[in-house]
Order: sequence, then C-alpha cells, then structure tokens
Amino acid sequence: MDILDGKALALERRAALAVWVQERLSVAGRPPGLSVLVAGDDAASATYVRSKERAAAKAGIQGEVQNLPAGISQNELLARIHALNADEAIDGILVQLPLPKELDENEVLDAIDPEKDVDGFHPSNSGALWQQRGRVAPCTPLGIMHLLAAHNIEVCGKHAVVVGRSNIVGRPMAELLLQKNATVTIAHSRTTDLPNLLSSADLVVSAVGRAGFIQPEWLKPGVVCIDVGINRVDGRLVGDFQWQGLENVASAATPVPGGVGPMTIATLMHNTIASWARHCGLDSSPT
Ligand code: GUN
Repeated sequence: MDILDGKALALERRAALAVWVQERLSVAGRPPGLSVLVAGDDAASATYVRSKERAAAKAGIQGEVQNLPAGISQNELLARIHALNADEAIDGILVQLPLPKELDENEVLDAIDPEKDVDGFHPSNSGALWQQRGRVAPCTPLGIMHLLAAHNIEVCGKHAVVVGRSNIVGRPMAELLLQKNATVTIAHSRTTDLPNLLSSADLVVSAVGRAGFIQPEWLKPGVVCIDVGINRVDGRLVGDFQWQGLENVASAATPVPGGVGPMTIATLMHNTIASWARHCGLDSSPT
C-alpha cells in the first residue's frame, strides 16, 4: 500500500508558491494579503489557524488572524468582513468554521466578497463550481485532487464514493471528482448498507469524523483511501479509516496526520495567491 504523503507534497507546493510570489512581487507592488477570522475558542480551529498563519508567512503572504470572542455579535462580525472587503491590501478572507452556534453562518459567508472568498464557500462561487465555471474551489477537496494527480492516480471512469455531504468537503469533493469523469456516489449518515456500497468503490473519500469507522473488510481490493477525518483518541490523531488491516486491501491511503490536512493548507495558500494575482492584474496564475 502506498502511503500518500501530503506533508511532503504540501511543503513542495508551498516552496514553489513562495518562489512564484517572490518573482512577481515588484510587478504586483504589494504582497498577497490573507485575513483569517476565528470566533470563539474551538481547540481544533486554533490549531488549524496557527498552521495557516505559519504557512502564509513562509509563502510570502501577509497574514493576519483576528481572534474574536465567542460572544461576538452577528453585526460586529459582519462589520469586520465589510471592512476587509474594502481593504485593498487583502486578497483573501477566511472565516474559520464552525462558528459559535448563535451566529448565522450563511449570512456571514454571504457577506464575504466573492472575489476574496479563498474558501470557495460563497454561494456564487459554489454555484459556479457546480456549473464547471468556478474560479475557486474549497481547499480540502482541491488539495485532495492535487494529491491524487501528483501520485498519478487516475479517477476517470472509476467509482468514487464520498462519505459525507458537507459544504466544506463532501459536496465540492463530489463535483471535482465528477469534473475528472469519475462516477460519483455521495454517502452519508442515512445511507443504508454503506459496507455494500463501499464494496464497489475504487476510491473512497471519508469526511465523517468518526475514528476508525470505515472497516478494511468493507473495501474492494486495490481501493484508494482518502481520509479527511481528524479524530482525537487518547491524545492521538486518527482518521476515519481503520488503519489496521488496511494495508492488506488498499493500493494507496493518506495517513492521519500528514495526509489531507497539510494539502488543505497548501491549497489555501494557492487560492490566496491566485486571488492576489487577479487583483494585481498579473497575467498568470499559480499552478
Ligand atoms: N473548518 C474546517 N475546515 C475548514 C476550511 O477549509 N475552511 C474554513 N473556513 N473553515 C474550516
């Protein structure tokens, strides 16, 4: 079984992006700017955001994190987004999810200028993605597509099962796989007989968030396993796939940690730099 090392690939991509930015800095006249808004004190969010901050600095992006109190009002959060929309030094705005439950997530995401929406969560961007004319795709699914391509894993004609139907991962993942001509099934918590469905899958992307949920004996020999789950068990991080025994059935799998997570961050850098390139009128976009 090949271990799909997202950490190594992400470092490589981030280094290439840093060079890409460096070479265009004088033409652009200013560095790329990314602002990350975090409301409340979700521990997992804090960890992700610190990684995003470090990665941004290394890629030559001017990063800013606004740590906001859990009790922030909807209007105050919207006002901060409006200010960033108007700030010419900012190319990317990311509101870390989940938001405290008192806040209206849809209204917040709708307030972000679609031109600065580096998550691709604004309805005009997610709608465009589903019509195959998207400008930006959500970071986790796009990072997974890059990881598959880097390992020459062909999805055309394959049966891909995406387990999970969130706006962040499952739905855009299904669309990106469809654009590469996979036959896609979206499974979720109400799916009856998931083991039977998975037995015909050539590629499984799991974004369920339950440690060791997907059993190797459910899977088809040769399957490629992409694990988006990040679950803490006894202080360790584990994915959604039961790792033990997986090597006997899968041809390739992403580890947790060190698989999908780092690719998400590298893709956020990519999306921010692509947005900067557009805003500064550069004549190309990073690959
Ligand atoms: N929470 C978990 N993943 C993500 C992501 O990709 N973007 C944002 N904004 N929040 C998240």
